[in-house]
Amino acid sequence: MADPDKPTLHVIAGSTRPGRAGIAVARWIAEHAEKHDAFTVELVDLAEVALPLFDEPHHPRLRRYTHEHTERWSATVERADAFVFVVPEYNHGVNAATKNAIDYLVHEWAHKPAGLVSYGGVAGGTRAVQSLKPTLSALKMLPLTESVIIPFVTAFLDGEGESRRFTPNSEIETGATTMLDALARTSPVLRGLRDG
Ligand SMILES: Cc1cc2nc3c(=O)[nH]c(=O)nc-3n(C[C@H](O)[C@H](O)[C@H](O)COP(=O)(O)O)c2cc1C
Repeated sequence: MADPDKPTLHVIAGSTRPGRAGIAVARWIAEHAEKHDAFTVELVDLAEVALPLFDEPHHPRLRRYTHEHTERWSATVERADAFVFVVPEYNHGVNAATKNAIDYLVHEWAHKPAGLVSYGGVAGGTRAVQSLKPTLSALKMLPLTESVIIPFVTAFLDGEGESRRFTPNSEIETGATTMLDALARTSPVLRGLRDG
């Protein structure tokens, strides 16, 4: 249940393709964040949010939204105090569904910290993280340096399809705790900027 005394953390599952590994990683980091206990945690699955390719006629900084899906997405992002983006690396960059969901909004993202969890092959999605950071900064988010990088993600997955379970090693787990600590430290500071 939501604790009104705790800030709200959205874990955004960025991959939307059927059979994705990302939803298992997102479920794991959401559970880890629940145990960490600094936040009220919500898992936001972009496959369920199901935004079309950006289709608003006006620049989102004007907040003149014309579609119900944008109003809903705006209300979802607005209620978060911090984010964890769980992103795959596609062709040495962030995947299109994540970038598309970000591009829909402006003010709703501002002055909130963002942790990044990436996964992939040998590079563990590092290039997705690096390609995403300038976009987050442009929207006045604070992308943390404490990212969680998961190389060879399939080695940590058991089961079939989207019901696979992700089991981290101790290094990944420690990295996740460090990232959540940093989110918990920065979130109240940035809240002050939003209130101002
Ligand atoms: C379109 C596409 C491009 C990919 N490009 C990369 C890449 O550049 N680097 C990498 O490490 N893995 C790459 N992969 C492999 C992904 O890391 C792997 O398929 C992972 O499971 C994708 O995340 P998802 O299952 O959550 O969608 C690519 C996969 C797809 C489908």
